[in-house]
Amino acid sequence: MKDFKRYLITAALPYANGPIHIGHLAGVYLPADIYVRYLRARKRDVKFVSGSDEHGVPITIRAMKEGITPQQVVDKYHAIIKDSLAQMGVSFDIYSRTSNQVHHKTSQDFFTTLYDKGLFEERESEQYYDEKAKTFLADRYIVGTCPVCGNPNAYGDQCERCGSSLSPEMLINPRSALSDATPVKKKTKHWYFPLQNYEGWLKQWILEDHKEWKNNVYGQCKSWLDNGLQPRAMTRDSNWGVKVPLPDDVLYSSPEGGGREGAGKVLYVWFDAPIGYISATKELTDNWKDYWQSEDSRLIHFIGKDNIVFHCIIFPSMLHAHGEFVVPDNVPANEFLNIEGDKVSTSRNWAVWVNEYLEDFKGCEDVLRYVLCSNAPETKDNDFTWKDFQEKNNSELASIFGNFVNRTFVLMHKLCNGKVPKLHEDVMDDVDKALIEDIRSAKTKVENALEEFRFREALFEVIDLSRKGNKYMQEKEPWKKASSLERLAASEEDGSKLTAQGSQQLIDNCLHLCLQLTANLTILINPFLPFTAKKLLHMMKVVDKMLDWENAGSVKLLSVGYSLRAPEILFRKIEDKEIEAQVQKLKNGLVKQESPKSLKGLEETASTLNQAEANNSPLGDGGKPTIQYDDFAKLDLRVGKIVEAEKVEKADKLLKLEIDLGFEKRTIVSGIALHFKPEEIVGKQVVVVANLAPRKMRGIESNGMILMAENNAGKLIFVNPDEDTDAGSGVS
Ligand code: MF3
Ligand code: ZN
Repeated sequence: MKDFKRYLITAALPYANGPIHIGHLAGVYLPADIYVRYLRARKRDVKFVSGSDEHGVPITIRAMKEGITPQQVVDKYHAIIKDSLAQMGVSFDIYSRTSNQVHHKTSQDFFTTLYDKGLFEERESEQYYDEKAKTFLADRYIVGTCPVCGNPNAYGDQCERCGSSLSPEMLINPRSALSDATPVKKKTKHWYFPLQNYEGWLKQWILEDHKEWKNNVYGQCKSWLDNGLQPRAMTRDSNWGVKVPLPDDVLYSSPEGGGREGAGKVLYVWFDAPIGYISATKELTDNWKDYWQSEDSRLIHFIGKDNIVFHCIIFPSMLHAHGEFVVPDNVPANEFLNIEGDKVSTSRNWAVWVNEYLEDFKGCEDVLRYVLCSNAPETKDNDFTWKDFQEKNNSELASIFGNFVNRTFVLMHKLCNGKVPKLHEDVMDDVDKALIEDIRSAKTKVENALEEFRFREALFEVIDLSRKGNKYMQEKEPWKKASSLERLAASEEDGSKLTAQGSQQLIDNCLHLCLQLTANLTILINPFLPFTAKKLLHMMKVVDKMLDWENAGSVKLLSVGYSLRAPEILFRKIEDKEIEAQVQKLKNGLVKQESPKSLKGLEETASTLNQAEANNSPLGDGGKPTIQYDDFAKLDLRVGKIVEAEKVEKADKLLKLEIDLGFEKRTIVSGIALHFKPEEIVGKQVVVVANLAPRKMRGIESNGMILMAENNAGKLIFVNPDEDTDAGSGVS
């Protein structure tokens, strides 16, 4: 690897349209923070920047929903998010915001540079406009009747009932989702960035020069590049955002500002937001150019997977086109974290909000850091469950790590007068030597994993070292030697003095090494659990300096004879009732999906819009994006037979099915009741997605899904094998 002098670490700017949830932490902020804390411990020159993303549709939608101005929205959530991140110990050098003057100026200057170089294409097109709300409407904000199935609440890009992909023109009686007005077509001008011109450069830079990027990131980039890039509009019709720095006669069709239609022109939020990283660095230090414009600076973006295209393709192309900036050296994106088997949904309120966690579990910041890191969605989507949270706390943090430290301190006070005992090298045995070796090699293992962004593995190695500590202590049993010491002291026999001395030496050695191991654990755990590391420093009465990474691996960190404090409990047990309360809270908070007319549904649409934009479908009809074979191989598809079917009470779309899978019977709840009578489908063969996480519908746990085809008229048809096939047979 290149020898870098400086590091600039960025964490995606969260939209200031709501609080952050634990998925944000697991995906972006914790890995970034762990990495930065590690770099700092290694004395690298590093800056860690982030801030609130305060522009774009999600903010304006939230403002409409709450009946306040966009500025009020961002002020409110910027404060909440900033506070949550700080309390969780995410140690930014600066957490800025894109409504800052510096940012407006920086992103406008950036735009102007590209504009003056002639790098934009100006285009005029017709777009739907809401005369009541005085705004142009993205396809998602137009609703109407689906021409295929008659659903009165289909979106301008898709009908969620029948799944047909639509365009706004196809809707019957289109109306604006914002105001209910009938949208009209208006001409509007925009500036497009011709991404296709950067394809050659991107291919070389990513596909050839950065083969080390994580598979999920590399794969997504490859698929975008293989499919060919399109020009992308970098301006929008809106009054909320960074004003496009061009004169009115250029922005609008006529010199009088014709075509303005009440809406101004702003930079596309994905144009200005990533420039926020630059603005934040400027705000932080006068030496910002060292980090952005010097080839020996290493830029790393921590993001979630829905941000990959923006950070790997669009923003780097902008930086490259501008000419004065470095491009990212790595973009370690994570996948998504589900909650209790279900996708996080802010509109359905299916999420664990960080500000609420901090209220409910005061002093347990590190527990959440631990659980989210050890279960981070590094290579695939992962699931957070409260039960697992409890288990990880009680049986890993408390019973392994906490227990080791506690035993060490208690015994040191009891058997060594509260002081670091001597190491008697002459009586060291193989077990002692093996432990010293474990301490040395743990450093290397943790370091290697961290350097490659394998945070789960790195954390596992730290806990594993404490596990080895427990095992060592169990083998040495210093308490037994102590009780035999007492017995010896009571006896008058010859030689007992010698034996007593020998026993004390063994006790000393054991606790000496356990204490040195504790010091090592403190250094190694510090990037992950900084609050715990602080407590440990306090107990050992040592200064922060000990946390320098180079100290790890040494067994000479605590000096002999130094007296240490009494142990503190590092991790309290988490009780069943706390967990039950959280599960209940999730369920009670769940908001049922409403019709697309309501802004609640739309808000999620707004954030998924960006995901939709990130999609790159290989299908002509705008289907789903290309996936890798591995994605497909994750599905466990089986042939099954419907053996029972009945209607679900008070749910007119649902049928409860019993499916024979050969090796077991499954209950599956399926939304096909409008299409089939229960009695007519019993006996049918079906194809089942057998490894789908269970999901409760109307109080019934559904364990899988059956595959259905749908014809143009919206009729559902069972997908099943051509011939009678044994239940349980695999499908691939
Ligand atoms: N606000 C975006 C999101 O939450 C992330 C913006 S990252 C930046 O998905 F690069 F644009 F800043
Ligand atoms: Zn439809």
